[in-house]
Amino acid sequence: MVIKDFTPMAGTTQWESPSNIALVKYWGKMGNQIPRNPSVSFTLQNCVTRTQIDWFEKKGNSSELDFYFEGKLKPSFGQRIQKLIATIAEQNTVLNQYSFRISSTNTFPHSSGIASSASAMSACAAGIIDMLRQIREAQDSNPWDEDYFKQQISFYSRLGSGSACRSIYPNAALWGEVSPDLGSNLWATPLDHLLHDDFRQYQDAIVIVDDSTKSVSSTMGHGLMNQHVFSKIRFEEGLRNTETMLNILRTGDISSFIDIVEREALQLHAMMMTSNPSYILIKPNTLAIIEKIRQYRQDSNVPLCFTLDAGPNVHILYPFAFRDKVKEFIETEIIELNPKMNWIADEMGLGTKQI
Ligand code: PMV
Repeated sequence: MVIKDFTPMAGTTQWESPSNIALVKYWGKMGNQIPRNPSVSFTLQNCVTRTQIDWFEKKGNSSELDFYFEGKLKPSFGQRIQKLIATIAEQNTVLNQYSFRISSTNTFPHSSGIASSASAMSACAAGIIDMLRQIREAQDSNPWDEDYFKQQISFYSRLGSGSACRSIYPNAALWGEVSPDLGSNLWATPLDHLLHDDFRQYQDAIVIVDDSTKSVSSTMGHGLMNQHVFSKIRFEEGLRNTETMLNILRTGDISSFIDIVEREALQLHAMMMTSNPSYILIKPNTLAIIEKIRQYRQDSNVPLCFTLDAGPNVHILYPFAFRDKVKEFIETEIIELNPKMNWIADEMGLGTKQI
């Protein structure tokens, strides 16, 4: 459907939001997108979604949405966005007075296996919350508090795609309750203020082992954790690893960082391999790359490590100072495994922003 009968445009806003990579993984949820254990992530810089939202005063009874991805009308992608807008409208009924034209582009291949839902959902939530802010500020001219604004974006991003709530904040974020006075299940908490200097400008090289669509979605994977024989242990371990990770980020303990990040990645995939039904998302080259990383670390003393999302692609995390060495390692030792593999040089970034 294309909105044919546009009334004049009532407003517009444009936002950019990045993907993020979890150091301690969120895997398993309850109720309305409440995580079973807290998680910690680095916010990325280069893998971003840019979203423009134009809104129009509605003529008929039903709200319309035209969703364009990379310049083409994509009603199938638009369904998830429409659902997010409907969720935000439950508490903000003023949205029901408008129709929307939303146009999104990604800086990374859409089906590359990089968490595009985190960047897409957070960019869209940011745009809609900004629209609400513009409408409310025009009515009562009370400027919104910036922390409240970001928290609202994080809250609604979470309802779009759990891990998306962490993309809002610069460099690093926590999501989930660690203790009654630390973290929240409803939105992410910024961690930038506690980062040790050795974790600033941390690099993430993403090796695309396979860019096909995953055989089992994250939604199904989360669901399988409800009946999982190891779920209790995993949720406890996620909490413990979050507490340890917060300390590591504060103290700059890179060798403990490597230990937890790699165990978290393997534990995530161990959960998939031991679910009922079981499934495997890593590929032979995922394992070959992991072996090469561990060997190279031992031989060179370069403190790089790997992590994985819910897919076969490998994120190589390392300090900024080793950029040239790691680039050479990837181009010589990793890409030789399959010259058709691509990789994306990313790094910590500043989170969701207006453009
Ligand atoms: O946000 P979701 O529902 O797509 O789940 C993401 C889960 C992992 O990426 C595997 C882990 C995480 O914490 O990001």
